[in-house]
Amino acid sequence: MLLQGILSVLLIAVVGCQAAPSIDGRVVGGVDATQAQFPHQISLRNSGSHSCGGSILSRYWVLTAAHCVSNTYENGTVVVYPASNLNIRAGTNDRFSGGVLVQVVEIIVHENYGNFLNDLAVMRVETPFIFSENIQPISLPSENTPANADIIISGWGRLSAGGDLPRYLQWNTLTSMTLEACNASIGYGYENMLCLLHPANNGACNGDSGGPAHYNGEVVGIAGFVYGGCGNVYPDGYARVYYFNDWIRAHTDL
Ligand SMILES: *[C@@H]1O[C@H](CO)[C@@H](O)[C@H](O)[C@H]1NC(C)=O
Ligand SMILES: *[C@@H]1O[C@H](CO)[C@@H](O)[C@H](O)[C@H]1NC(C)=O
Repeated sequence: MLLQGILSVLLIAVVGCQAAPSIDGRVVGGVDATQAQFPHQISLRNSGSHSCGGSILSRYWVLTAAHCVSNTYENGTVVVYPASNLNIRAGTNDRFSGGVLVQVVEIIVHENYGNFLNDLAVMRVETPFIFSENIQPISLPSENTPANADIIISGWGRLSAGGDLPRYLQWNTLTSMTLEACNASIGYGYENMLCLLHPANNGACNGDSGGPAHYNGEVVGIAGFVYGGCGNVYPDGYARVYYFNDWIRAHTDL
């Protein structure tokens, strides 16, 4: 597969990811979120364990990454997980408790997902989210995300490459890049990607996959991959949500 081995997805293996709570609260370079700072952020749980992030779009629909909800065979065939394996914790910064748990009942993966591109999916939940201070939908981007902007990412991904998952939701600020600069840096750059630059020991890591990148209070990116492992100086690869607005609207109740 193209660039396989250099790019890696930011998934958490289903088994063995229950980390001890972090005391000093660093994602890769992040800080603890305050209560209700990211009320659309969910923890996607595969067989009961945190595997990925995601964003609430409406009472019934959640946005995540395709690789969070599917396996890809060597021949490129994408096999979507049974929805019954997946549930969602929403309305809390605590990965282990609080908020609500809702069952996923339908998963739609982008039909052109592959090679780290078009890496998005939407999930429908069984019972509607009841909106509150801690549970809110986030809007799709109203404009194409500019380069050189401050972009906020959030998630329960590892605090360092191979390190622990935090107990409490973390966030950090990265910088959007032009596709040309991204391609010059990692040899990969397509208009449906959002590349986010950061200093060493910052950025997304395993367990952040599917979670949001924010700009102007809108979800502008979906965490997808890192180049050469987390925490290095290379940009992180997100799906550019603006590019997928029509697809998302066509496959949800938005
Ligand atoms: C792809 O590989 C899987 C697993 O080996 C197999 O079940 C499937 O039939 C293959 N699909 C195609 C189109 O070759
Ligand atoms: C990325 O850069 C390489 C040269 O380094 C170039 O051949 C390729 O066309 C570029 N790709 C895109 C999508 O711009």
